[in-house]
Order: sequence, then structure tokens, then C-alpha cells
Amino acid sequence: MKEKIKIGILGCANIAEKYAIRAFQSVPSAELVSIASRDYGKAKEWASRFGLRAEESYESLISNPVLDAVYIPLPIGLHKEWAIKAALAGKHIICEKSLAENFTAVKEIVDLCRRKEIVLYENFMCDFHPQHQKIVSLIKEGAIGRPFVFKGYFGFPFTDKNNFRYSKSLGGGSLNDAGAYTVFMARKILNSEPLAVTARLDNDENPIDVRGTAFFEFPDGASAFLGFGFDAVYQNNYSVWGSEGLITVGRAYSIPPEMKPTIELLKNENLKEVVTSIDASAANQFELNFSDFCDTILHKEERGKKINSIYSKILAQARVLEAIRLSTNEKRRVELNEIK
Ligand SMILES: NC(=O)c1ccc[n+]([C@@H]2O[C@H](COP(=O)([O-])OP(=O)(O)OC[C@H]3O[C@@H](n4cnc5c(N)ncnc54)[C@H](OP(=O)(O)O)[C@@H]3O)[C@@H](O)[C@H]2O)c1
Repeated sequence: MKEKIKIGILGCANIAEKYAIRAFQSVPSAELVSIASRDYGKAKEWASRFGLRAEESYESLISNPVLDAVYIPLPIGLHKEWAIKAALAGKHIICEKSLAENFTAVKEIVDLCRRKEIVLYENFMCDFHPQHQKIVSLIKEGAIGRPFVFKGYFGFPFTDKNNFRYSKSLGGGSLNDAGAYTVFMARKILNSEPLAVTARLDNDENPIDVRGTAFFEFPDGASAFLGFGFDAVYQNNYSVWGSEGLITVGRAYSIPPEMKPTIELLKNENLKEVVTSIDASAANQFELNFSDFCDTILHKEERGKKINSIYSKILAQARVLEAIRLSTNEKRRVELNEIK
């Protein structure tokens, strides 16, 4: 049996340089082989810096028979084109979030991957940080009683208007970028899918959504309120309020590998507020996600159920993002079963 998954990277992306390349290089079941850029000179420079092979173009990387999988950290508006090309070439795919600009495009990618038996991951690396597993367990054990409100904020000051995040044609906008994390985490922490969404997105002149808010109605009376945006004071947190306690997470979605999370549990005892710090370890969430991706490919034959549930999770996330867009465009409450 194969021991390592051979991977190529499409594009000399900021996120690849900051986290992904080192993370792939630390995962025992991954072998990062090559990188491609629109500019071959840049690919050669990055390849020599990181000990990789430079491919002449994105196309030549996709068609390199040595590679088992591709990592796609391109602007969101290009994800669909390259995910489809990679899947048609038989490569497994780990694509940066959001997987595509809208629900129809996500469905197209997932359908093709299903047909071609391609393992498809959307890189919500925060799914793998132990702090959230810890919180999920605490909620299950009843530490906060019945959870009824999730509140999540993610946004940052952003000044480079030339970045793809400000370009409509490259799939820019804060919902698919920062907002997607808050949507993902609300669903993960409340462990269910919203029944209905009411949202607004505020556009700039480009026009891309620079900020937004959303209200979700979950089954069993729980709700979520989300805020996200560019050009905002930095926020990267969430809280879950329950009948018996409130959990607050200081650094939620993007967290450097060496940073130990701060989690607090507030409870009332004899009419007093008692706050306990909850221990969670620092972790490299990119490494954890990449390792899971490679292991899933290596054990693909036995992991059919898991692979199918990943497709479903990706579709469920995209369905909620689509409901937010529809609610904004039609200025109304949207039920999730309207998004087919
Ligand atoms: N998971 C996370 O923690 C995390 C964090 C940040 C970003 N992201 C996601 O990662 C992806 C990339 O984000 P980023 O900030 O790293 O992006 P970026 O550096 O601004 O751009 C990514 C790369 O895409 C390539 N590219 C191809 N066509 C392009 C075009 N027309 N305009 C600009 N670039 C083009 C460029 O590489 P070449 O010039 O070499 O071809 C560029 O370096 C996005 O999906 C984003 O949402 C994820």
C-alpha cells in the first residue's frame, strides 16, 4: 500500500507561504512535490525556496501523473474551474474555502467528485482544532445546559484593494471569505443545520459584499447571530449561551499553531458569576486537516461512508451561504429547503 500522498500546489498563494507549505511538509502521510504559478519564474523561485519541483503551468501540474492530489489556494472565483479540471484528471482535491462562489457551482464540483470517486476537502482547518472538539464535548456533557444562542464574529481591517477579496470577477466578498467560517462554526457547535436564514450583505462600489450579518433559526429553539466583514476592527471569536452557562472563545477561526486558545466558561453559583478557564492545547490546524485528507485518500476503500458525509457537509455549508445571498437579494426570511 502507498504510504504517502503526492501533492501539488496551484498558485503561489499567500496562505500557502504562511501556513500550508510548512504544514504539508510536516505531515508524515503527505509528500509535497510541486508548485505551479501563472508565472513560471515565480514557481521556480518558490520551488527552490521550499525544496519543491516547479511545474510550467497550472495545466502541467494537473496533468502530472506523479501527483495524487492538488491543493487549490486560488482566488475563490477560480476554484470551480480548477477543481473541475483536477477532478477530470483524477486528482484528489483539497480546496481552500469557500469551495465555490455559489451553491450551483459547489453542487457541480461535488457531483463530479462523487462520479469520479475523488476525495474532496474544503479547507475549513478550524474543524480540526482541539479547542472546538473540547467545546462540543462540554456541550454534550451538559456544561452549559441547553444551548440557545451561538454568536460568531470574524472580520479584519483590510487595506489592499487590489487583492482578489475586492474583485467581483475573482469571487471576492466577505461572506465567502470571513463569513463562511462563522457559518461553518455555528453549524458545527450547534450540531445541526439551520431551518431558516435572515441576512443582509452590504456592498461597496466594486460591488462586493464588504460586511454582513445573518440570523439563523435552528431546530429546538436555538439561534445564531453572525457578523463578518472587511474594513472592520479585528474580531475572531464566538460564544455559546445556554440555560446553565456561557462559553466564550477568544480566538476561534484562524489561530497560529503556537497560540494556546483562551476559552472561558461562565456559570452562576449562588447568584454570583463564576468564570472558569478551560484548558485546550495549541495545535497546527492546517497539519491536522491535511493529515486527515491524506489518510482518507490512503484508506479510501474503507472510508466510503466518511467520504460521502464530507460531500454532504460541503453541500450543507454551501446551501446556507446561498440562503444568506437569497435573503439579502429578496429582503426576506429564507427557509433552507428552498435551496435545491
Ligand atoms: N484556510 C485559511 O486559513 C485561509 C486563510 C487565508 C485565505 N484562505 C483562502 O485561500 C485562498 C487564497 O487566499 P490568499 O489570501 O492566499 O490569496 P492570494 O495570495 O491573494 O492569491 C492566491 C494566488 O492565486 C493565484 N492567482 C491565479 N489567478 C489569479 C488572479 N487573476 N489574481 C490573483 N491571483 C491569482 C496567484 O498565484 P500565481 O501568481 O502564482 O499563479 C496568487 O498568488 C482563498 O480561497 C482564501 O479564501 C484560506
